[in-house]
Amino acid sequence: MSQIAAEATIELRHPTLADGAAIFQLIKDCPPLDVNSAYAYLLLCHHFADTCVVAESNGRIVGFISGYVPPQQPDTFFVWQVAAHRDARGQGLGQRMLRFLLDQPAVSGVCYIDTTVSPSNEPSRAMFARLAKTLETHLEESELFSATMFGPGAEHEEEKLLRIGPFNLG
Ligand SMILES: CC(C)(COP(=O)(O)OP(=O)(O)OC[C@H]1O[C@@H](n2cnc3c(N)ncnc32)[C@H](O)[C@@H]1OP(=O)(O)O)[C@@H](O)C(=O)NCCC(=O)NCCS
Repeated sequence: MSQIAAEATIELRHPTLADGAAIFQLIKDCPPLDVNSAYAYLLLCHHFADTCVVAESNGRIVGFISGYVPPQQPDTFFVWQVAAHRDARGQGLGQRMLRFLLDQPAVSGVCYIDTTVSPSNEPSRAMFARLAKTLETHLEESELFSATMFGPGAEHEEEKLLRIGPFNLG
């Protein structure tokens, strides 16, 4: 896929089961994201479509966010994976997808966003810092998943918890 021109139309919508395989491929194309199973992405499309988004350009899936409201934290939207294809980066797509999800009825009751980031993922950190600024609220960082929790030989960086809020979606 060649660079997507800034003026090209990228449409946002909730995913359907028909998007599962393309989302799986997008995640494979977006290191350093963990590649979960194709089954996991189908489940997200099936059970969590209301809190997930895909970005489509000329019939191709070029962006995806998975998220959900944790059952025991109804005031929080947990953002799991954010992917923008490399040809669609630097145009605010990550930000647009986050805002799209915050506009959905399924998250209208939340006043915090939680997500996890590895210490070395600068693009992800920059994207969430920008979101906190736009929402005119705080961003706090704390420990969550240590590298050892991923198990021996996993070679997985630690994942810090970023908590953004409180905010009022109006
Ligand atoms: C992280 C990612 C989704 C950002 O997508 P994007 O559409 O390019 O991000 P945006 O254009 O919305 O940028 C949002 C902010 O982050 C900043 N940013 C984005 N990429 C950056 C980079 N590589 N280095 C520094 N800052 C960066 C932007 O400058 C912008 O900040 P600003 O508004 O203050 O200028 C994309 O780089 C990606 O898919 N990376 C691989 C997968 C990944 O690491 N996902 C995040 C972990 S869940």
